[in-house]
Amino acid sequence: MPLLDLKGITKVYSLGKTTVYALRGLDLTVERGEIVAVMGPSGSGKSTLMHILGALDTLTDGVAMLDGQSLAKLSEDQLADLRGRKVGFVFQTFNLVPTLSAQKNVELPMIFLGVSRRKRAARAQELLAKVGLADRAHHKPNELSGGERQRVAIARALANDPEIILADEPTGNLDTETGATILDLLRRLSKEDGKTMVLVTHDPEAARIADRIVRMRDGRVLEAMAHG
Ligand SMILES: Nc1ncnc2c1ncn2[C@@H]1O[C@H](COP(=O)(O)OP(=O)(O)O)[C@@H](O)[C@H]1O
Ligand SMILES: [Mg+2]
Repeated sequence: MPLLDLKGITKVYSLGKTTVYALRGLDLTVERGEIVAVMGPSGSGKSTLMHILGALDTLTDGVAMLDGQSLAKLSEDQLADLRGRKVGFVFQTFNLVPTLSAQKNVELPMIFLGVSRRKRAARAQELLAKVGLADRAHHKPNELSGGERQRVAIARALANDPEIILADEPTGNLDTETGATILDLLRRLSKEDGKTMVLVTHDPEAARIADRIVRMRDGRVLEAMAHG
């Protein structure tokens, strides 16, 4: 059974009299342990896809299975639980809490699962060491570089040992060289722990770290192209 199995996903946003079809019958399967890079023009539905995969948004139509569970059938509480346990998010804008230290940011998802203070602290320190930031645990986000902030966000994404890492343009706010180290880190962490990853990126380097590239256009995944 694939970790992710999406069939005919449609997502419609209604804004007053305007209807936006963000996804129009999208099909996508992702196997366990696979790293898939999603590429496509702005507005093609990449972030909408990520929000649906991460149970941050609901779908209008279609069937979305995550780890054998149909997302459409889950209640709000079940979706929140699934987000907390099975999904780790990495965003372009890092989305760290500015008033909290790196360590406390990494601890946050564990607080929601009721992990004890001592265990949280130990796990956060272990994860910060894993992303090369053992000596930055007590720094706040504004005392860290962009690349370091993204590494904190990656450590946070791993906090609850998720099944899947969802990264939406994780290098979009970083210079090329820093971006490359972040992509390498994501690949290393995914492969070390056998984590599935879906990565939205414009970075031509993505091909280097992904097992497979999926192209989107107008709310759909394009067929794998045999003729270029
Ligand atoms: N919350 C929203 N409300 C209305 N329209 C939206 C919303 N989010 C995305 N869209 C629209 O859906 C389409 C796909 O957006 P998005 O998934 O963000 O694309 P991408 O990430 O590929 O740039 C766009 O036309 C966008 O304007
Ligand atoms: Mg986007």
